[in-house]
Amino acid sequence: MYKMNEEYSIGIPEIDEQHEKLFGLINDAQTLLKDENILYKYDRLAAILKGMKNYADRHFRTEVSLMEALAYPELESHIEAHDGFYEKVNSFHLDMETISLGTQDKIISDLLAYLESWLQVHIKDCDRRIALHSKELASRY
Ligand SMILES: [Fe+2]
Ligand SMILES: [Fe+2]
Repeated sequence: MYKMNEEYSIGIPEIDEQHEKLFGLINDAQTLLKDENILYKYDRLAAILKGMKNYADRHFRTEVSLMEALAYPELESHIEAHDGFYEKVNSFHLDMETISLGTQDKIISDLLAYLESWLQVHIKDCDRRIALHSKELASRY
């Protein structure tokens, strides 16, 4: 189970709060992967993908506005990383077109691995650098 804590907090409350949504999606994917009481996981997997899209629509907009307000020098590469998240959501949608009982757990575990790596790489490093830039600006004045 993932929870917001010091390890993941970047120190900007609005962003940290939105990141908690992603933790929820990771936890949902973990639960779904382990759930032996349901045969067809398609609907719940579709709900997680929808959640990822909603998360991205709202959260990435918040981050981009913040980066623009801070004249953040890595804005463009950060937006490219966000685009990569959307591409991944699309590619999981494609995987779901041919999903079967034999492949569903593999798709869920790939999705889980992707979200966990997003947490470790994007949130803990890329997003944190926005907060560091913000602190650095504040210390100048
Ligand atoms: Fe983020
Ligand atoms: Fe980001």
